[in-house]
Amino acid sequence: MSPTLTDATPLAADPNDGLNVLESRGSTAETFGIPLAVLAELTHRCPLQCPYCSNPVELERASGELSTEEWKKVLSELAEIGVLQIHFSGGEPTARKDLVELVRHATEVGLYTNLITSAVLLTKDKLAALADAGLCHVQISFQGSEADIADRVAGFRNAHAQKIKAAGWARELDLPLTVNAVMHRQNLHQLPDIIQMAVDLDADRLEVANVQYYGWALKNRAALMPTLEQIEETSHIVEDAQVRLKGILTIDYVVPDYYALRPKKCMGGWGRQFFNISPTGKILPCHAAETITGLDFESVRSNHSIAWIWQNSDAFNRYRGTGWMPEPCRSCEFKEVDFGGCRCQAFALTGDAGNTDPACTLSPMHEQIFKTAETEASGDVNRFIYRNFNGGTPEADAQHDA
Ligand code: SF4
Ligand code: FES
Repeated sequence: MSPTLTDATPLAADPNDGLNVLESRGSTAETFGIPLAVLAELTHRCPLQCPYCSNPVELERASGELSTEEWKKVLSELAEIGVLQIHFSGGEPTARKDLVELVRHATEVGLYTNLITSAVLLTKDKLAALADAGLCHVQISFQGSEADIADRVAGFRNAHAQKIKAAGWARELDLPLTVNAVMHRQNLHQLPDIIQMAVDLDADRLEVANVQYYGWALKNRAALMPTLEQIEETSHIVEDAQVRLKGILTIDYVVPDYYALRPKKCMGGWGRQFFNISPTGKILPCHAAETITGLDFESVRSNHSIAWIWQNSDAFNRYRGTGWMPEPCRSCEFKEVDFGGCRCQAFALTGDAGNTDPACTLSPMHEQIFKTAETEASGDVNRFIYRNFNGGTPEADAQHDA
């Protein structure tokens, strides 16, 4: 998921901003710090079919995935260049038969490991083996607070019950647990119950993330877009719970772009704090970067090192910093606060990733997309297009009526 919307936080206050840290030490502008955390998308295979999946619409097939040895080499290289945390994600990372081996290798080279999972393929033994291999943290995604809606959103029967079981195993094994809840028009009414569910599951953290609209979510925007009233209510519910549950549950909240005044500082700024590695080894500035056409992404299978790709490749430098910005960003006081918002959203909504993110009220397109959001939110499109390797499958009538 994309990072939480941040307000006008001064850069100097952000210890995760590798570039800022280097700059404050007097580094040259061309020298970029390596991120502390990297997302490894081990596979795009997944038994779930969530209609807002952040994977590209063109999913990568198993035949192209990095091998076990290739991933191990990548993990070693990441540790060597100073990365501290690895988030194993997908698709569904537990679909990889070598996950335990990869976690063990990551542990051996000194990386903190986090598993981001739908949990439906986990068994207690598998989770115990992962813990034994050094797994440090588990994040389980939930699609709702009860099975009817959750299983329908996931497009997978019994998913919810399985997730509840897996969360219990994680706590039995003493693994810190984060509950990820992706929210949209069709499940926002369950938010109070989801918060209580996270408390009951003894989670340390709950991430309440509103859907971000590119890729699969853009295909499903009319079925997912919340109303302004829902968003206002959500903010109150989250704020109340954050106070009430202080010391019991940490709640992070990602505001939906379409209803914000300014865009989120997506990925902490393009090429500043984050990269991810696709199943076939492409180094990407964000999980949705491949939705932008016209960018070539270098691979770990190339002759270049990961550090070289981060510092020198065109895909990272194209929108890095502020030099690429058009107006109104170029002369805006917030340009080093949000870095012009999200490149993927700018591309999805304007056809040019070099435009100001239309989530910004200063974008000439903001008014238009806000109206579209309002229209879609009050419309009657509720049926999903499920994410899968066939390019998406429309939800069946019976399933939707259930
Ligand atoms: Fe951010 Fe650009 Fe909007 Fe200014 S104009 S707030 S820099 S997106
Ligand atoms: Fe925001 Fe790609 S998802 S830059």
